[in-house]
Amino acid sequence: MPRSQPSVPPACYALVHPGLEAVAAEEIEHDLGGEVKKTSPGLVVFRLPEIDARVLKLRTTEDVFLLAWGSDQLSYRAEDLDHIRRWTAREADWPTLLHIHRALRPKPKGRPTYHLVTQMEGRHGYLRRDAQKALAQGLAGTVPESWRPVEENAAVEFWLTIHGATAVCGLRLSDRTMRHRTYKLEHRPASLRPTIAAAMIRLAEIGPQHVVLDPMCGAGTILAERLAAPFPHVGERKGERGGCAPVWGGDSDFSAVRAAAINLRRLGPALLAQWDATRLPLAAATVDRLVSNPPFGKQLSSPDAVVPLYHAMLREYDRVLRPGGLAVLIVSAAAVLRSAVRNIGWKARRQLSVRVLGHPAVITVWQKPQP
Ligand SMILES: C[S@@+](CC[C@H](N)C(=O)[O-])C[C@H]1O[C@@H](n2cnc3c(N)ncnc32)[C@H](O)[C@@H]1O
Repeated sequence: MPRSQPSVPPACYALVHPGLEAVAAEEIEHDLGGEVKKTSPGLVVFRLPEIDARVLKLRTTEDVFLLAWGSDQLSYRAEDLDHIRRWTAREADWPTLLHIHRALRPKPKGRPTYHLVTQMEGRHGYLRRDAQKALAQGLAGTVPESWRPVEENAAVEFWLTIHGATAVCGLRLSDRTMRHRTYKLEHRPASLRPTIAAAMIRLAEIGPQHVVLDPMCGAGTILAERLAAPFPHVGERKGERGGCAPVWGGDSDFSAVRAAAINLRRLGPALLAQWDATRLPLAAATVDRLVSNPPFGKQLSSPDAVVPLYHAMLREYDRVLRPGGLAVLIVSAAAVLRSAVRNIGWKARRQLSVRVLGHPAVITVWQKPQP
């Protein structure tokens, strides 16, 4: 018999795109009233006052889990395998975790299915499959014999994630729709990962009536995250979404504008156009928030081409942004961006290092000064 839900719910953890830990922690604290216990590369461990379906609505996390056990003290040696086996068998309160899991992710009809996932990063004196075997041994007795192991779409997933000396083990609450958004009907090369776009939207501190512009919108991921964000933006009361102003976007490539229109159609109002971002058909000082992912000069253009492009685009962005407005830009060539920003006098507010499609990149937040 599953135990009833304890008065103090078990801890949870989220796997996040490395570099987004701080933004994900802010989202968990601000939107869910959670308490962040620990962050490490790619990981946020937290507690919630109550574990309910809102945890599945986080937008800056890749996956969320109920924590069975965690450790910062792996030795990298084979003795870790004994610990994994023992912690999985003895430290975890699986009946309670499975009970909470069932409440959030009702079991499909038929014989229950399960799947074991082991991820491992870093050089350890054992293989990933050895760690997975230790996990399976630790779970003996927890997984009823009647459950069927499957590779895809299991009703219950037991995960073990090892990153250097850190290991976390738990039950996956989210499914693939947390990281792959359902609005993404059209894809483009160099499309941004939705969780990164969501982080940029959070960093932009957007109010409900703010005009948000992405002048190089590609398939529209950033604008989609603005329209889809369920969290209260600045000026909105908690729990009350209200309508937001139409988003503005465009791209020099007509097929990108068309892809963005398809992706945004069901999300909310969007004004889209084919344009050159260095000569925008917009009046001066009409944009409150500019959030964008210009070409890195890797996939879509050459590295040298970004120098004149970044200078020209920033002059134009400065013209359309209101004084006091914020710009959030993700680039790979941070030095080129900084030198272009120097010409227009925006003030740096924040910077996060991430990797995008294998390239190091920075998310930078700028404020245009008041006169
Ligand atoms: C990195 S992609 C943006 C990807 C987008 N964030 C997404 O998730 O799909 C950069 C985009 O900038 C567009 N672009 C490049 N130069 C431009 C310019 N001068 N004016 C407008 N768009 C431009 C490209 O066509 C491309 O779609």
